[in-house]
Amino acid sequence: MAVYQATTSAPVNIAVIKYWGKRDTKLILPTNSSLSVTLDQDHLRSTTTSRADPSFEKDRLWLNGEEEEIKEGGRLATCIKEMKGLRREFEEKNPSEPKLSSYFVHISSRNNFPTAAGLASSAAGFAALVSSLAALYKLPASASELSRIARQGSGSACRSLFGGYVAWEQGSKPDGSDSFAVEIAPQSHWPDMHALICVVSDDKKGTSSTSGMQRTVETSPLLQHRIKEVVPARMAAISKAILAKDFDTFAEITMQDSNQFHAVALDTYPPIFYMNDVSRAIVAVITEYNRIAKEKTGHLKAAYTYDAGPNAVIYTPKENVKEIIELIVKYFPQANTFSDPFGLFGAQGVGAGAVP
Ligand code: DP6
Repeated sequence: MAVYQATTSAPVNIAVIKYWGKRDTKLILPTNSSLSVTLDQDHLRSTTTSRADPSFEKDRLWLNGEEEEIKEGGRLATCIKEMKGLRREFEEKNPSEPKLSSYFVHISSRNNFPTAAGLASSAAGFAALVSSLAALYKLPASASELSRIARQGSGSACRSLFGGYVAWEQGSKPDGSDSFAVEIAPQSHWPDMHALICVVSDDKKGTSSTSGMQRTVETSPLLQHRIKEVVPARMAAISKAILAKDFDTFAEITMQDSNQFHAVALDTYPPIFYMNDVSRAIVAVITEYNRIAKEKTGHLKAAYTYDAGPNAVIYTPKENVKEIIELIVKYFPQANTFSDPFGLFGAQGVGAGAVP
């Protein structure tokens, strides 16, 4: 008897122009475009196996071995339904194909990093889910088409369907058909770029992205300024900087956009604080490091960015990785070991490690 099963994995992505705010909460349509770098590394991935079988009695999903409820009308159910819909279209065009769209699926997903620690686990998770179903169903869909479905699982997930430098075009259509991810440049275009992750805390974050950004949309006047006046120009400028491998411009915009995202979080009422004292101390260290570099060479060496949590991601050209790790260890002596990337996610305090 035939076994219909596929396993794929998807990596984490870290935004340099932040997505924060939805204009449609059901379809997950953003209030602004965003741009990220996909971390091409084995240690920050979700791996998902999907299986379709006529003996299954309902769709089921396990996350890190624990079963999750697939709520009717929820994000998981939506992604599975959309993927079955694409399979159905495929079967109509290819009548000899087995009718997998009528079978229930069992899905098992594993993250090799802490869930909800501000490390974009939902992004890798939904991207892996959608790509494993696409492989199971042998769909000829492009990464952009699949990104439109992953987007309905978690907005940032649409960007993890691509490697390298990826934009999520916000689109303008009410049905979301023009809101998907596109590749700005593959990782091979600028392989010198490295990401260093400083785990300040691997606790589950306080305010989830989903509820936090909705409160921002409802209460922050600064968000309106960001959406209209700031992000469009930054999207154009950082895309140009990536294509030109202009690290100074890339770094400046990345840091400014992280700052503004945390400013709109603070402008939310009641306010949301994602960065803590250690996060702010890392900003101070990187700022001083850049000031000295600029004085000596005329160029910046590093760019920090923070998502919905206290952990820092530092983008830097490869040649600086060692120096920055030494700097972090010097100022944050409780840092974990750097040789084992998993040491990163161990104890409290600051851990840092390089991710090519
Ligand atoms: C700060 O994609 O987790 O990481 O769409 O509600 O699932 P939902 O939100 P999510 O938000 C990510 C926010 C961010 C910025 C970013 O990745 O662009």
